[in-house]
Amino acid sequence: MALAGKRILLIVSGGIAAYKALELVRRLRERGASVRCVLTPGGAQFITPLSLAALSEDRVYSDLFSLTDESEMGHIQLSRAADLVVVAPATADILARMAAGLADDLAATVLLATDKPVLVAPAMNVRMWAHPATQDNLELLRRRGVRMVGPNEGAMACNEYGFGRMAEVEEIVAAIAAQLGRAEGPLTGRRALVTSGPTHEPIDPVRYIANRSSGKQGHAIAAALAALGAEVTLVTGPTAEADPPDTRVVRVTTAVEMMAACRAALPADVAVCAAAVADWRVADLASEKIKKGADAAPALRLVENPDILASLGRGPDRPALVIGFAAETEQVVANARAKRARKGCDWILANDVSAHTGTFGGDANRVHLIRADGEEAWPALSKAEVGQRLAAAIAAALGGGTDGDA
Ligand code: PMT
Repeated sequence: MALAGKRILLIVSGGIAAYKALELVRRLRERGASVRCVLTPGGAQFITPLSLAALSEDRVYSDLFSLTDESEMGHIQLSRAADLVVVAPATADILARMAAGLADDLAATVLLATDKPVLVAPAMNVRMWAHPATQDNLELLRRRGVRMVGPNEGAMACNEYGFGRMAEVEEIVAAIAAQLGRAEGPLTGRRALVTSGPTHEPIDPVRYIANRSSGKQGHAIAAALAALGAEVTLVTGPTAEADPPDTRVVRVTTAVEMMAACRAALPADVAVCAAAVADWRVADLASEKIKKGADAAPALRLVENPDILASLGRGPDRPALVIGFAAETEQVVANARAKRARKGCDWILANDVSAHTGTFGGDANRVHLIRADGEEAWPALSKAEVGQRLAAAIAAALGGGTDGDA
């Protein structure tokens, strides 16, 4: 895929795989991208600034306190003047510093200051990779929306075998293209926020309250919006669904986390709330597993969760178009109409989630679209088709496409 005109900031940290960064620069430039490099002190133990400068045909940045660098291209500007920040190789150390929010060298400062998507290609010894500290850091970074490519399994420079080898250069290029090669369409230049999946509300360290949402509908909507060119942030609860292509995915567990991730994703032109957010959470979360004793079963006191859709519909930074779903088991359309008004959204899609419909977890959905100025009963469609039809209607409403028959 062509990367013409795309600007990539490549951070090379200190691992033996740093030599592959040279090949990565060549491959990206062959596809038309411009590459600017930050070389950490560790990285400079493995490759020279001169090689990177020669291949990128640009100067290489290393020093946070360089007077010349700061006057020509301050570290804030460096972090923002790119379409994508790539860390390859990403050592256990730099991943830990990213997770901790440190700013103790130029690379870490750039990563903390950037407002651009970040892709990391981890590379390290197999035991460092498997260490709980590294895995916790990765989980935290994933939840913050950081994308990963690799590592792969294989023989290592340290004569061990396992996971930790940096992804091959072509795999990293493909991951970069998937991130940047967004489709052009009627929603190009528009930002979309989509929520998907269930939330899990913990009771104690091993138990939680959840629902049957699979994330299929929300993920299909995110994919359809991205296919029309939108810049999509998908905030999802725990699901087995694969990340939709060309979207930024933020994984959360609870409703409170989902609310925070949604607020952080604003501003947006359109928000679609397809997540089945738990209405309540447990008030007094037990820090240890609740024991089964001779006493009566424990009573759970519940408190109401924040309503994400209502907060988007009524908040100061309201997207131009706010769309909700109504999951109903009786008086589906009438309840959905009332919900649209109550939550301050523009459109609501009513769906029947009674057990016999198979809506939760299934591949098909039958929705009724309710707007202020009219309603449409859509036929039973696959969830992908519901997503496509909704995305076309959104494009038409935002003035960038034809509504088709939606
Ligand atoms: O995930 P799947 O298995 O594919 O199933 C799809 C689906 C049935 C989950 C989906 O089509 C759907 O109906 N999503 C909304 C589920 C829901 O929670 O509906 P609700 O009627 O309880 O909530 C109404 C709206 O408010 C929804 O847009 C919901 O995302 C939102 N909400 C609810 C509670 C809350 N605390 N915050 C919210 O934002």
